[in-house]
Amino acid sequence: MKSLYYILFFVVFNSVSFFVICQNIPSPRREQASTLVGTRLYFFGGDTSSIGFPNEVWYLDLSSSFNISMPPWHSDIAMPVGYILGTSCLSPIDNSTVFLIGGRTWIANTNTFSYTSSVYKFDSKTSQWRTPTINNFNSSFEARNEMQAVIDNYGKIFVFGGINRGNDDNITTTAYNDMSILDITTMIWSTQTQSQSVLVNVDYTATLLPSGLIVYIGGRGSSTANLNNISQIQIFDTKSYTWSTKSASGSTIASRVSHSAVLRWKYYHIWRFNN
Ligand SMILES: *[C@@H]1O[C@H](CO)[C@@H](O)[C@H](O)[C@H]1NC(C)=O
Ligand SMILES: *[C@@H]1O[C@H](CO)[C@@H](O)[C@H](O)[C@H]1NC(C)=O
Ligand SMILES: *[C@@H]1O[C@H](CO)[C@@H](O)[C@H](O)[C@H]1NC(C)=O
Ligand SMILES: *[C@@H]1O[C@H](CO)[C@@H](O)[C@H](O)[C@H]1NC(C)=O
Ligand SMILES: *[C@@H]1O[C@H](CO)[C@@H](O)[C@H](O)[C@H]1NC(C)=O
Repeated sequence: MKSLYYILFFVVFNSVSFFVICQNIPSPRREQASTLVGTRLYFFGGDTSSIGFPNEVWYLDLSSSFNISMPPWHSDIAMPVGYILGTSCLSPIDNSTVFLIGGRTWIANTNTFSYTSSVYKFDSKTSQWRTPTINNFNSSFEARNEMQAVIDNYGKIFVFGGINRGNDDNITTTAYNDMSILDITTMIWSTQTQSQSVLVNVDYTATLLPSGLIVYIGGRGSSTANLNNISQIQIFDTKSYTWSTKSASGSTIASRVSHSAVLRWKYYHIWRFNN
């Protein structure tokens, strides 16, 4: 029935319908942010290697099975800005609000940078975007990107390090080892600065364990040539706000950046038993 509808639409409004059909499949991209909300797997923005950066929002509904070579994409209300290299997480308070933190933002579909806000809020129930007011925001976080946020069960977002980008790719950038914390119940921002023994880190993965420890894997320093040793795992304790480092044993893998990680419960239990 649906395909018949599109065929009819195509015949009647030929030029317009081509556009409509295109909008049902996201073009290939990278550097988007993604978050699972219930059974909906959302992604936000991303670099499509064309002029300007999209502000598109897409999701897959995972509640029923589908052919992965033809995923049934749904588009949602677009972001107020074009978006790449940021990070997103789901509020555990209502399980429906998504926070997007940092990233490089553009006036949508143009090549004009626009750092209007370092935090955007998406209500997935009403498809509304908001720019929240943040108390005590640290302006050194503006234009911070290439980092990953985690959120704990109490609504505290932890964002480690990342790198600043100016309005031009060739502007000198600074990589950080600070911990930026946003409590979404009070919207108070705070920065925990670290001693030098905590490595600067960019393009790593961050995984929150149920014990409250965040495990950081891989990543780099300020230059892309300066990879951090992937076998040296930096760990942050969200209860004591302290750092520790563990050496990974077993297979040796090459250090790397821009990978992704998920926690699988079966292995988490093994990890916990051994630690
Ligand atoms: C999935 O879609 C592809 C591409 O249309 C098709 O070749 C394949 O047979 C489909 N697989 C199933 C299990 O339907
Ligand atoms: C949110 O989801 C978690 C995990 O599924 C659940 O324990 C919690 O009760 C949910 N909270 C609300 C407000 O729905
Ligand atoms: C960055 O590169 C552009 C184009 O190459 C140049 O016009 C601009 O002056 C450069 N900016 C800086 C800060 O070096
Ligand atoms: C803001 O962040 C910078 C960079 O981490 C840090 O040096 C500075 O102390 C922070 N300011 C406050 C008030 O926390
Ligand atoms: C990386 O860390 C591992 C584990 O501590 C160590 O065995 C290895 O020698 C280190 N690699 C380099 C290149 O320093």
